[in-house]
Amino acid sequence: MMISSKQIKDDLNEEQQQAVMTVDSPVLVLAGAGSGKTRVLTYRVAYLISQGISPFNILAVTFTNKAAGEMKSRIKEMIGKKADNIWIGTFHSICMRILRRDSGRIGYDSSFVIYDVKDKLTLVKQIMKYNNIDEKLYKPRDILYEIEKAKTANILPADYDMFRDTQINPFFRTAHSVYQEYQKELQEKNAMDFNDILINGLRILDENPDICDHYANKFEYIHIDEYQDTNEVQYRIIRLLGKKHKNICAVGDEDQAIYGWRGADIRNILNFEKDYPNAVIIKLEKNYRSTGMILRAASEMIKNNTTSKGKVLKSLKCEGEKIRCYHARDAFQEAIFIAEEIKKLREICGYEYSQMAIFYRVNWVSRVFETVFKQYGIPHKIVGGFRFYERKEIKEVLAYLRLAVNTQDDVSLLRIINVPRRAIGKTSLDKLSLASRNLGISIYEYIRDHSD
Ligand SMILES: Nc1ncnc2c1ncn2[C@@H]1O[C@H](COP(=O)(O)OP(=O)(O)OP(=O)(O)O)[C@@H](O)[C@H]1O
Ligand SMILES: [Mg+2]
Repeated sequence: MMISSKQIKDDLNEEQQQAVMTVDSPVLVLAGAGSGKTRVLTYRVAYLISQGISPFNILAVTFTNKAAGEMKSRIKEMIGKKADNIWIGTFHSICMRILRRDSGRIGYDSSFVIYDVKDKLTLVKQIMKYNNIDEKLYKPRDILYEIEKAKTANILPADYDMFRDTQINPFFRTAHSVYQEYQKELQEKNAMDFNDILINGLRILDENPDICDHYANKFEYIHIDEYQDTNEVQYRIIRLLGKKHKNICAVGDEDQAIYGWRGADIRNILNFEKDYPNAVIIKLEKNYRSTGMILRAASEMIKNNTTSKGKVLKSLKCEGEKIRCYHARDAFQEAIFIAEEIKKLREICGYEYSQMAIFYRVNWVSRVFETVFKQYGIPHKIVGGFRFYERKEIKEVLAYLRLAVNTQDDVSLLRIINVPRRAIGKTSLDKLSLASRNLGISIYEYIRDHSD
């Protein structure tokens, strides 16, 4: 199966076609929301394979696992089974693949485990306890938050002094010492947290030229979606993976940068032309998603962005209805107003529930909607929320499995020691932790050796 040039002409506008078919130099597609950037990447990958490029030589980085899945199945529709051999995934999943193969090079066994928020917090609490740091003085949560901040900015424990004033500020001093031990403990327990996946992915490439060359040779064509949201570590990973062929196709929108708080650096997109001087820059100016009204309102808002490169976006849809703004007194009033609107849309205008969506700013807001919608009898589905691996019972099963293959994993043991309830109190647990630590063995080993 192949994608024909007719299909490319039928399915894409001229600028999009240009982006898809420019394959011998770096490409930056800079364009607004709904202009078909992700569509361009998908078609470009399919096009490359139709041109005889091996799927093994193509990499596509998406922002979420869901987007990766969608891109993969779309490409499969176009070119068939060959799509299975393309690397498509998030930065995390790509680093995971690299790490699972070669983590030995950075002192990790390939069966390393991933710690989630609860695991991380347990570890921080343990470290604080061993070092007699009063939890009332500094909350473990605050310490963990500070550690995460440093890690997102790619500040290793050794560099932390330059990041924060540990001389004067005792909180930073404490965070620093916990951070040092936290990293040591993670490595000893053969565990990584989410940031480590990226940091170690970068490290493995950076410190091992043979591994880096292997991937740099392999990936002749690299694609990145949502380039405006890449942080420094991700940026450096791409620089290394692309160092041989320098054939990067990045798409993004400087006005949609939403991950500044997570270390995303908009300069990555603004500097693309400097990084890749022979880059072809393509703008897409047609919007396929929204009505003219919505586009004008959005563009009035982003006009105020200081980093905006300025752009035109024309809707291919109708003008659409006016946008209304309703200022509610509180979250409850807001939910009630929306519930009333939904009833009206359904009963008077004849829309289905499945045609309506609600966006909210933070997750806790969903609770208010759930309560109000129950009263109104409005059926609904929460998208996102807790994913499979984040559910309590799934995590507990995983903790049992992790412990079974790695008896050093105290954090997993502590997660399940009272699941099901075994009435083991906090005092006993503290004693166990301390005693095992004094002997330099894991809690599991201590229990096993002292079962009497
Ligand atoms: N040439 C086209 N013809 C028909 N539909 C198109 C075309 N280009 C894009 N679309 C459709 O417009 C919608 C938006 O496209 P896409 O998601 O690729 O935009 P985007 O630029 O990636 O948006 P975002 O900035 O939100 O990531 C999709 O439903 C896509 O299939
Ligand atoms: Mg997109």
